Formats: sequence, C-alpha cells, structure tokens
Amino acid sequence: MINESIRYYEDQLCVSGMAIQPLLHEQVTPLYLYSAERITHNVNALQKAFASLGASFHFSVKANSNLAILRQLVSMGMGLDVVSGGELLAALKSGVSGEQIVFAGVGKTPSELELAVTHGVGWVNIENVAECHLLNQLAGKHGTSMRVALRYNPEVQANTHPNIATGHKYAKFGLNRDALLNLLNQAHAFPHLHIEGLHVHVGSQLEDTQGTQDGIRKALEIAEQFPQIHTLNLGGGFPTAYDDRPYPTYHDFAQSMLPLLRPHNLHLMLEPGRSIVADSGILVTQVLYLKEQGGINLVVVDASMTELMRPALYGAHHQVVPLLNAPEKRRVRYTVVGPVCESTDVLAKEVMLPDIQVGDYLAILDVGAYGMVMSNNYNLRPRPAEWMVEADGSARVVRPRQSFESLIAEL
Ligand SMILES: Cc1ncc(COP(=O)(O)O)c(C=O)c1O
Repeated sequence: MINESIRYYEDQLCVSGMAIQPLLHEQVTPLYLYSAERITHNVNALQKAFASLGASFHFSVKANSNLAILRQLVSMGMGLDVVSGGELLAALKSGVSGEQIVFAGVGKTPSELELAVTHGVGWVNIENVAECHLLNQLAGKHGTSMRVALRYNPEVQANTHPNIATGHKYAKFGLNRDALLNLLNQAHAFPHLHIEGLHVHVGSQLEDTQGTQDGIRKALEIAEQFPQIHTLNLGGGFPTAYDDRPYPTYHDFAQSMLPLLRPHNLHLMLEPGRSIVADSGILVTQVLYLKEQGGINLVVVDASMTELMRPALYGAHHQVVPLLNAPEKRRVRYTVVGPVCESTDVLAKEVMLPDIQVGDYLAILDVGAYGMVMSNNYNLRPRPAEWMVEADGSARVVRPRQSFESLIAEL
C-alpha cells in the first residue's frame, strides 16, 4: 500500500520525495527499490511498542538479505536471525558479531552447525533431538559451549495462510511437547550446551494475536518447570498490510503479550522479518505488450514469477500502481502477467489501472519481504538489480543486476 515514504507527488510515484521514473533512465527493469526511511519507521515502531517488555530483536534475514538493509538494521541495534550457512556468512559480512546472531532451521547440516560453533553464534534454535547431540559433539570438538533455545511446536492454530502456519500439530517445525520435555530433563547429557531458551514461532503474516497468545501460554507452562529457561523467543509473524483490511499492529501484539509475560521473569526475544521490510520495497517493471484474450485485458510486463514468486506460490495479493498516475485517463481492468512459460506467472489479477500503453512503467508494492530473496534463474532470467533510496532522496544501486556473463559462466 502507499505509505508516508512511498507515495505520489504531483502524480509521480516517489520514494522519500524522489520521483522514480527519472531514475530509470537507461536502467534495465525489472528492479527492486527500497526505502531506507520506511525501514527506519518500522524499526522505530517495533522498538517503541515492545519497550515496556524489554524485548531484544533479531531481524529475520530470510525476508531480505540485501547487505545494505542488514547494515542499516544492525546500525539500529538489531541482531540477525539466520537459517542457513549462506545467511550466516551474509550476516557476518554485514558487520554483526557472532554473538548477535540466532541460528534457526529445521534441517541444519553438520557443516552449517560447525560454522555456528566456530563463529560463536549467540543462540542456536534446536528443532531435533539428533541435532542436539550433534551440536553438543561439535561444540566439544572445538572446546567450547553453545547457548541453545529449543523450538517448541505448541500445536496451535494461527490465523494465516496455511502455507505459512508453522505451529500446528502437522507442521514439520519444532519439537513436540514430549520430545522437548525429554531434552530438558536430560540437559545434563549435553555438557557443551546451555539450554536456556524456548523458541516458538506460530506463523507469518498473522491476522490476529490469538495464535501467539496460545503459543505463549503453552510455552510458559513448560518454562515454569525449568528455572534454567530464562529466555522466550517468539519468532516473527507480525503482518504487513498488503490490502486495506485492518491488521494487528506491533502495539496490539505487545499489549496482548504483556499480561501473559509480566508475571514471569523471562527475557523476550523477537525475530521479525516481513513487518520490517515488506512495505519498504517496490518492484519496478515496464509494459512490454498488451493483448485481449478471453475477454481479459492482459498486460505483459518484464517482471515475472522469477523476480516475485509470492503470487504464484501463495496466491499473494500485491497492489500494482503506475509510476506516472494519469487521473484524466479512463480506468481499465487488467491482469498483469510476466513472460515466463508457466500459467501461474500472473503478478496481479483484475486490477484497475489508468489506460496503459506499451513502455509505461508500473510498480508492484510491498515486495521488500520474501521478494528478491525468492528470486531465481528459471527460464535463465538474470536476477534483478536492487536500489536503495536514502531518507534524503539520494538513490544508489545496492546490488547490481546479474549479468548474462555470470549467469552463463555458471552453466
Ligand atoms: C522461526 C522464524 N522466525 C522468524 C520468521 C520471520 O517471520 P516474519 O517474516 O513473518 O516476521 C520466520 C518466518 O517464517 C520463522 O520461521
């Protein structure tokens, strides 16, 4: 959705007051463009909402791993939450210390766990009994010890898209209650681990606070029995408004957690991803062709499911707007599609836009999270460039477009 940082001035879509269309001169589209100002706004709102809970924050790198964004977030006091060796190395490259990294994931390989040990990551979130043994052994081999949170699957239903609900009984994530209690009761069997936290993440893009509250209650019931548990990591999941329905805010989540957490002396950790970056990013694309088929007005653009997979993967909705608004033009119902050879390569269905011409530019909004990170080379399409617009309106490339040379060299 349009926000204070990404909005129209005199019918030109601007980021922090800088018109986007003139920037595109000789730039190849599609390209991602982020607003540093919007990211700052979101982090400030998060920190303010959870101040009374004394929470600490680790940005979930899976949502966006651009180094300029990671550096900005680290400079604002956030740690980083990673789920692979690649993300771990990207986090270190951004300048964060190992201690400020949380390493999560349902299937960490032995070499990834060893990376975590050798770089001294602050927390490893364990999801499997065998993983606990393996990490203990690796820490012993390197003559060190690791701090661990056990990821609990609380078997609660989160109000979200089924593909991003993670805390229900049939999800692959976390340890069930019995496995978790067994590990806690046998903590002495892991001399190189300090099992000091519980980790619960019930889902992403949560439409209400209920699933989180249910997860907290279940986790507290276990934490109460084990005084060595001093930290509760509640993951991410805070929603972004992709449409104009009302969504719970950081403040709503904090207020719903407060009465549950206040009686307990637990440190609260959070791993937000989407809510920090989603509405800071747009994908700029150019119209290649127009055609009418089956009574539908198709707009074929140069972006596709390879740059933005969310519509094809989840049926996700993203608002599409023109870079140059033309209020005087008649509005037409369009379906916006990409060039990829898949029928699912539809970026937006039945959107009302001013009468479009070939060569016009469109912006797909709210793509800063799970956008570029999910891009791929299907149909041998190069990955797009990423730009950052600073709060003063200055813009720079923060990751160049992948060249055909590097794409072909890897074949
Ligand atoms: C364990 C964990 N933490 C944090 C996140 C980030 O969630 P979100 O982007 O919804 O804030 C996820 C996302 O799936 C996750 O699985």
